[in-house]
Parts: sequence; C-alpha cells; structure tokens
Amino acid sequence: MKYFAVIQPVIANKINLQKLGRSSAFFLVQFLFCLTVVAQKAVVIPIETKENALILETDKDNRLWIVHNGKKLTNPGEYALVNARYNLSEANAGKYNHAYTPSGTWNLSEPAIRVTHSDGNPSLELTYLTHEVKKENNNVQTTIIRLKDPVYDFLVTLFYKTYFNENVIEQWTEITNKEKGPVILNKYASANLFFPESNFHLTSFQGQYLREMQPMEERLQQGIKTVESKLGTRAMLLGTPNFIVSLNGPAAENTGNVMLGQLAWSGNFKLDFEIDSYKNLRLIAGINPFASEYRLAPGESFKTPSLIYTISNEGTGKASRQLQDWARQYRVLDGKGERLTLLNNWEATYFDFNEPKLTALFKDAKTLGVDMFLLDDGWFGNKYPRNGDDAGLGDWQENVKKLPHGIGYLVKEAKAAGVKFGIWIEPEMVNPKSELYEKHTDWVIRQPERPEKYYRNQLVLDLSNPEVQDFVFGIVDTLFMKNPELAFIKWDCNAVIYNAYSAYLQAKNIPQTHLYVDYIKGLYKVLERIRAKYPKVPMMLCSGGGGRGDYEFLKYFTEFWPSDNTEPVERIFLQWNYSYFFPSITIDCHVTDWGKQPIKFRVDVASMGKLGFDIVASHLKPDDLSFCQQAIANYHAFKGLVWHGQQYRLANPYEGPVASFAYINDSRTKGVMFTYLHSNRFMETATEKPIKLNGLDPLKNYSIREINLYPGTKSTINTGSVYSGEFLMNVGINPDVHSKRQSVILEITESISQK
Ligand code: DGJ
Repeated sequence: MKYFAVIQPVIANKINLQKLGRSSAFFLVQFLFCLTVVAQKAVVIPIETKENALILETDKDNRLWIVHNGKKLTNPGEYALVNARYNLSEANAGKYNHAYTPSGTWNLSEPAIRVTHSDGNPSLELTYLTHEVKKENNNVQTTIIRLKDPVYDFLVTLFYKTYFNENVIEQWTEITNKEKGPVILNKYASANLFFPESNFHLTSFQGQYLREMQPMEERLQQGIKTVESKLGTRAMLLGTPNFIVSLNGPAAENTGNVMLGQLAWSGNFKLDFEIDSYKNLRLIAGINPFASEYRLAPGESFKTPSLIYTISNEGTGKASRQLQDWARQYRVLDGKGERLTLLNNWEATYFDFNEPKLTALFKDAKTLGVDMFLLDDGWFGNKYPRNGDDAGLGDWQENVKKLPHGIGYLVKEAKAAGVKFGIWIEPEMVNPKSELYEKHTDWVIRQPERPEKYYRNQLVLDLSNPEVQDFVFGIVDTLFMKNPELAFIKWDCNAVIYNAYSAYLQAKNIPQTHLYVDYIKGLYKVLERIRAKYPKVPMMLCSGGGGRGDYEFLKYFTEFWPSDNTEPVERIFLQWNYSYFFPSITIDCHVTDWGKQPIKFRVDVASMGKLGFDIVASHLKPDDLSFCQQAIANYHAFKGLVWHGQQYRLANPYEGPVASFAYINDSRTKGVMFTYLHSNRFMETATEKPIKLNGLDPLKNYSIREINLYPGTKSTINTGSVYSGEFLMNVGINPDVHSKRQSVILEITESISQK
C-alpha cells in the first residue's frame, strides 16, 4: 500500500494544486484518481492450514475484516468473492467482524483493545498498513499484519502462526506506543475471532479444588458468555482457559466442525464468547483486563500471550489429536522425549519423615520397578521447621533434625538403591512463620495497612520484583549446583493472590495495575533462566491440583499435576477431560490409596498418563505387590504408545457406565486399549456390546491380548483370535468388563501371517 504515501500528503493539502500548471494539475488529478481506485481494491489475506482458512480483507476505509473462517476453498481466487455474499446492515448498530476491534470510534460492540492516548483521548481506529509472511519451514509460517491509528502514532501488529499439517493456529498481538507520552492499555486482547455460522455450543471446563476440569456444554445465545480468572496465581483453579466451540450443534467425537482452543497465559485470563445480533460468534480472548491497566512508555511494545487453537471438521477426536501432535512437536519441553516413572512420598509420610524412613522408601521404589523417588514437602526450615503447612515455607535449607546429612546424602543413597532422586519445591510462596518473611516482608504481596489474608497459611512472593526473581532462580540453581545428579523437580503453588499490592512497583513508581501481569512475566523470566542453564531436567508443574497447566508454562515444564483428586473413577473423567487439550505424556497420574477400587483398577487408570505411585509399597499385600511389579514392567513396554501415540476416546464415561480409550502408534501396527466399568449399578450391564476401535489400518490384521492381569485371574479375551482392522473399527471388540472385571487393558499388535 505504498501509494498511500503519495495520496496522503495531497489529502492533507500538503501539495498545493494551485501552484501547479493546469495541465500538470490535470495529469496529477488523473494519476491520483487511478491510485485511489487501486488503493480501494481490497487486500485479501489468506491464513491457511491444511484444511481450514481464515480470510481477512480490507474495506474502502482500509479497515480489516474477517470474511471467512472455516473450510479451505480449493480455488483461493474465490476468497475475494466471499464478502459480497453477505448483506449485513451496519445500521443495526454493529459491524462485528473486525480482525481486532478497536474502541471509542465506530465500534459499539465488545472491543479487543481499548486505550487512553498520551493526551487523555480514549478513541482508537485501526487501519491496515502492511502485511508479510515469514516462513520457518514447510509446515510453519507466520503472517504478520500491521495496523495503525490514522490519527495517533499507535501501532497494532497481528501475528498468526500456522502449523499447517496440524491445523493449528497460534495467534497473538503486539501493541506499540510511538506517541510522545505514555499510553494506557485498558484492554489488550490476544485475539479477536469471528465465525459466520449458527447454532454455536461452548464447552468450558470449570470446577474447584478436587473437582477440576468439569465440562459444561451450553448453547450460546445472543450476548456475552465470559470465562475468566481473577485468582492471580494458580489461575485455573476455578475455571480454565481451555474451551471447545462446536458449530452447527453440540460437539461430537467423530463428526462436525469444532474449534478447540486455549489461551496460553498462566495468570488472569478472560475469554468472551459473544453471539452478535446476526447470530454470528465473536471470540475475544486475552489477559483479563480486571485491575490490569498497563502503562506503555513511548517506544515500548506489549506482546500479548497466544491464543492457540485448532479446527477440525471431524469432531473433537481429530481436534484433540491435532492439538496433541502440535504440543508434542512444537510446544511441550521434551514433548517427544522420555519421562520418569516415580514413587512419591507425600501421601505415604506427609511431613513426618527422616532419613531412615526415606532410604527405606528408595528401596520400595526399586522393588516396584519405577525410575525415581520423589521427596515431597517438609524437608526444609530450621528456625521454623516445616512440620506442617503453617511454617517454614521460604526457608530452603534442609531441616537438620529430619535430614542431618542433607539432600546430597539422599541423592547418593537413592543412587545406591538403584533409583534417581527428585525433589519438591514451592518457590513462589512464603509462610508468615518463616525467616524469609521476617527478613523480606517487602518481597511479599500484601497490603501494608491491612490484615493479611492467607490461603493454606501462606502468601505469595512478589515476582514483579527482580530481586525476588533472583531469589526464586537461586532456589533451583542452588539445588542443582549442590546436587548435580538431582533428576527431577516438582514445582508446587498452593496460594492465590489476596491483597494484590507490590511494594516494589510502588517504590519504582510503576502503577499497581501492572502487578498481575508483571508477576507472570517475572515468573516466565525465572523459568527462562532455569531452562537456559538446565535445559533438559524434567520438571512437574503442580498447583495443589489443577490450578496450573497451560501451553506457556509447558514451554518450561515437561508435565503437570492435574488434580489432588486421585480417586480412580474420578480420574477417568478428569483424564478424559484433560485429554481434549493435552497429550498424555504431560499428565502426571499417581496411584494412591484414594477410592475403593482394587489396586489393578487404580494402576490401570494411572497407566493412561505418566505413571507414578504415592503409596506405602511395603504395606501392599504380596499379590498386590507382584501385580504392581508386573504392571510397571508392562507400562515400560507400552508407555511409548501412551506418550507418543495417537489417542482415541472410544467410549464416553458421561454417556454410559463404560469408559474406553486407545492409543495407536503412527504406523498403526501397535496399540493399547483401556476399558473401565466406572458405574456399578445393577441395571448397568457393560458386556452387551462391543466397543469400536479407531485409528487402525482396515487392511491390517491384529491380534488382541489382555495384559495387566491380577495374579490368579484368567483372561476371557486371550483366545488367540486375529481380527482385521476393518472388523475392529466397524464391529469392535468386547473387552468383557463387568463387576468382577472392572478394568481391562488390551494390547493390539499387527499380526503378520507366516507363509
Ligand atoms: C499440594 C500437592 O498437590 C501435593 O501433591 C503435595 O505436593 C502438597 N502440595 C505438598 O504440600
């Protein structure tokens, strides 16, 4: 759009036509007319993945609109024809499909951005400036579109990073202040999307502690449905930034158009799903603007977090596999790598342990056959020993009574027992009963003039403060410097932010409304430093269960803890729900003593994620122990399928008494199928019908073998029969689950007949 540079000075009367001769003036007018005609020609920007296209187009005023968002057209030339098919009148108080809706000018709907300019003016207009495409490789490229306010020196750049084969788009925005004074960002969304379809259903995932990730599907009606968090830290505790939108009816597993997305931001988020007056869907997603106006100094830019989404034309199953593939390849730290199975001592000992108790547990870990022992909370604090959750947090020195020989000794002893050693920390938090609090009250998020309010007897450290960032980095760094063989970190976070106030921001004359955002940015800085120095060591993100786990954190963490609720029936539902968004390699699943189910059921369920144990192995009955040993050995044999295979949700636990999942490798030669009877009502018979498999090769033959059999039991499946993939996917297999066989794992192997 270079011709604007010529037209604009004329429009602004900077070229005086009277000074030109008549004929020159005539030619100039002709020339400008031609340019104007060219200038008004719409710019069409296609953002395409393998199957879908998001088409943006400018109008005569040079504003940028979303004109198509859905299935890709074979002839890209036809995208320019889309807009003219619609006849939506502007008189109806709304133009709803702007690519990044501004506020305070022509728009009367929910904006994506709202600012106050350096002169106090609250209006914003955004017109198209330029765009370019940056290609990373054959699969990944970013379309960058620059928009500008024609009156103020204020820029907005939209980024659309496409992962072609996975049908995934990562979208974010950069906002730049080129004015002479500071601009206040009142609202600054990551993405503004528009779907011209009808009958939208939204599934959001909400809950509370121990009831995380509960799906709620509803038909969206005219108006705004908001999903948000204002908790500061552990932001996902009550609601998550994950969502499913289905177009033209409720979401289904194998059919229909669905969008599956997440805002990759670990702090307060806000997702607005708006049905406009024409019944289109608008989605505006970003950092929650609640108490978070952000001051942008002259020359400064603000990069928003990413909205990550995939669109599938074959239901949620395909959408999940696309997102899981993307996550493993492009996002999760070591997403295509290995993980460590483990024995954790939290529910075995809580805070009550010493060296002999722990070294005995190392031996249990070895006896079970897991890779590592993980020491949980309670190992630190001397003036205020960490013997409960009300003291010691922040004082990261080994408690000399419990561990007189220090962590180094434990690492050595674990190694001698034949297992690796990992450790728990909660570095962002502090108990008021701690030396850290006594020395550095100014590092704590609290209102100096008001009573403190605690969550699990603790407060949050102010990570907007660089000194606090150094302190948190130092906790991890010291552990690794002193114990280079430390194999794993469990990073916990058990409090929300009350009394949001930062002594640091106050001292630096930075608005308090930066706190929620600068906290998370500060935390990311710490994680960057940790990963620069320790790029590989696996780290689990834990948040008292379910409060954290998003694709910005998962750049730094290899896995996360989905809930403290390890009751295995609940876990089936929980793992089902998390699986819409995350590959199983990222989901930590521990066998505990929760629930009434036998050990086999508990181990089978936990084997669908990254397997761990949090039990007293030495208390297991001999048959239970030998079952666990065999099951762990089996897990080591099939874990590659669970971690890296394609996941298929086969029987939905919300629709009947049975839940079933399968993981199939990419070459479709091997798979593993997990089936559970989760409801034990007399009327519910589970064995009546076969369950259809998915993801196999119809032309291959497969043998089916039941594994993880409890000692002394016989399989009713292991008949040696061979079935075609076609049979297994169209007729299915009956795993024969019933009240005496509530959990069945089947191994599926391509059978090559010997000629
Ligand atoms: C909450 C976690 O979810 C538990 O697994 C355990 O690590 C405790 N914190 C320790 O305080």
